[in-house]
Amino acid sequence: MRTMALGNSDLMVPVVAVGCMRLRHLDKPAAERFVAEALDQGANFFDHADIYGAGACEERFAEAAHLSPSRRDTVILQSKCGIRPGAYDFSREHILEAVDGSLKRLGTDYLDVLLLHRPDALVEPEEVAEAFDHLAARGKVRHFGVSNMKPMQMELLAQSVHQPLVANQLQLSITNAAMIAQGVNVNTLNAEASDRDGSVLDYCRLHHITIQPWSPFQYGFFEGVFLDNPKFPALNEALVRVAADHGVSPTTIVIAWLLRHPAHMQPVLGTMNRERLRQCCQAAEVTLTREEWYTVYRAAGYPLP
Ligand SMILES: NC(=O)c1ccc[n+]([C@@H]2O[C@H](COP(=O)([O-])OP(=O)(O)OC[C@H]3O[C@@H](n4cnc5c(N)ncnc54)[C@H](OP(=O)(O)O)[C@@H]3O)[C@@H](O)[C@H]2O)c1
Repeated sequence: MRTMALGNSDLMVPVVAVGCMRLRHLDKPAAERFVAEALDQGANFFDHADIYGAGACEERFAEAAHLSPSRRDTVILQSKCGIRPGAYDFSREHILEAVDGSLKRLGTDYLDVLLLHRPDALVEPEEVAEAFDHLAARGKVRHFGVSNMKPMQMELLAQSVHQPLVANQLQLSITNAAMIAQGVNVNTLNAEASDRDGSVLDYCRLHHITIQPWSPFQYGFFEGVFLDNPKFPALNEALVRVAADHGVSPTTIVIAWLLRHPAHMQPVLGTMNRERLRQCCQAAEVTLTREEWYTVYRAAGYPLP
C-alpha cells in the first residue's frame, strides 16, 4: 500500500482510510475477517467516531482487531467527537469525555488522530485549545484535525490551538465534487461556480492539510451509491471504459479518481465487503491520465466553461 504523510505531520498513513461507520452491521467473526483483510491490504488506518452506532462500531472494532499492547502500533486509529444527540459540542468537558469514551471502547490508551466532527456554532476556540493541550500532554491523542469545516473556521481554531491541524474530513465523491467544480468554473455564471465551502480545497493544499473524502461512493447526502445506478448512465459508462483500459473494476477507478487529484487526499472507504475493499485498495496502484480524470469528471455532469 502506498503511504503518505498526514498533513504537515510525520505520521505516515496509507493513502486510503478504512471507515468504520458501518462496522456494527458485521457480526464479530465477519468483522474479524474484514479487519484482517484491511491489514492484509496494508490499509491499517481506521476511521471511527464516538457516534457511529452510538459507540457500537468502536466496540466491534476492538473485538475484531484484538489489539494487544504489542500490536497497537501496527494500526493507526482516528476517531471523531463533537456531535451529541440534538447538539454539537466542542466544550472542553465534552471533548475530554468523548475521547475517554472512545479510548475505552477501542481498548487503547491513545488515538493517533482526533477530529472535531462537525462545526459547533457555539465553539470557544480557547476551550478547544485547553482540551487539545490536556489530551496531548497526557499522551491520549497524538495528532488533531477537523471535519466538515471551512477555512475561516479552521483559522479561528488555529489562532488558539497549539497543535497543527493535520486533516479535514469532507464529503467528496465524483458526484459530490462541488469543491473541485467551483475552482474550474470560477468567474462564470455557471451554478457550479458558487463557493459553498470558502475554497476549502485550495486552503487545505496551501496549508498542507490532508483532505479525507468521506462517502466516496455516495451521491446526495447518503442517498445511495452512484455505481451501477441508472440515474448516472454517462458516468457509469465512462467508469466502465476507463476501468477496462486499466484492467481493473469501476470501483477501483472511483477511488483512483480521488487519488489522482494533486491535493494528496486520503479517501475514507465505507464498504464492509472484503472484495470491494480489495478493489478500493488497488486504486493506490492506478494512476489516471489527465484525459481520463476529466472524462470521468465531465461524465458526472460537470461543465468545462
Ligand atoms: N466526517 C463525516 O461527517 C463523515 C460522514 C459520513 C461518513 N464518514 C466516514 O466515511 C466513511 C465512508 O462513508 P460511507 O460508508 O458513506 O462511504 P461509501 O464508501 O461511499 O459507501 C459505502 C456503502 O455503499 C455500499 N456500496 C454499494 N456498492 C458499492 C461499491 N461498488 N463500492 C463501495 N461501496 C458500495 C457499501 O455496501 P457494502 O458494505 O456492501 O460494500 C456501503 O454500505 C464512514 O465509514 C465514516 O468513517 C464521515
